[in-house]
Amino acid sequence: MNNDVKLAPSILAADFARLGEQVAQAEQAGADRIHVDVMDGHFVPNLSMGAPIVQSLRRVTRLPLEIHLMVTDPDFFLDEFVEAGADSFLVHWEGNANLHRTVQRIKALGKPVGVAINPATPAAVLEEILQDIDQALIMTVNPGFGHQHFVPTTVPKIRRVRQMIEQVKSGCDVEVDGGIDAKTAPLAVAAGANVLVAGTAIFGETEGVAAAMEHLRAAIPQASKERPEQIKHA
Ligand code: DX5
Ligand code: ZN
Repeated sequence: MNNDVKLAPSILAADFARLGEQVAQAEQAGADRIHVDVMDGHFVPNLSMGAPIVQSLRRVTRLPLEIHLMVTDPDFFLDEFVEAGADSFLVHWEGNANLHRTVQRIKALGKPVGVAINPATPAAVLEEILQDIDQALIMTVNPGFGHQHFVPTTVPKIRRVRQMIEQVKSGCDVEVDGGIDAKTAPLAVAAGANVLVAGTAIFGETEGVAAAMEHLRAAIPQASKERPEQIKHA
């Protein structure tokens, strides 16, 4: 088991009729935080959930609730989510002409903040904002839906972001989101990711949440033994 790598189960793949129960199972199985995907039907072509879900979850788990805002106007929703019990935010570089202001607003609310970049967005856009953030989120699928395939061209980008972070702000987390399972998690970790978001691989497995998390964790140590050359061709 690799304890340096944190698991963030994404409730987008949970059974919403049993949400509290499934989050409790994830907590008992050692999840590090709960990832809440918020979609507005504009920034991404899908709707998901809002602050009321966070308010309900706040009552059933002590885990940090991280809010991944896939919305056109993230600033508009920040206060509402903080009041509901949000612990941290992930906001996108894409479509935000005033990203630095959004980041400062989240910091002023006393919450950790991460910036997310989509698969076609280069790592370099993070360069000027890295020193202000707590997490860099590399989307390993195009945002909007769970249960999609990991985009392999994001692997060298994870490595580049990790290198940038080591130069600028070594405490910053490198998080990956989308298509993470026992096959792709080792690739992401070997490239430098230390926080893994996983929806389908945790809540979508018939083996149950605890067994699925164990399965995912068991896959991780193998990554550190692989060399980058092997990973490129995996
Ligand atoms: C995609 C979301 C992800 C998604 C991950 O837009 O940001 O968090 O729920 O789901 P899986 O693990 O099923 O790809
Ligand atoms: Zn997400």
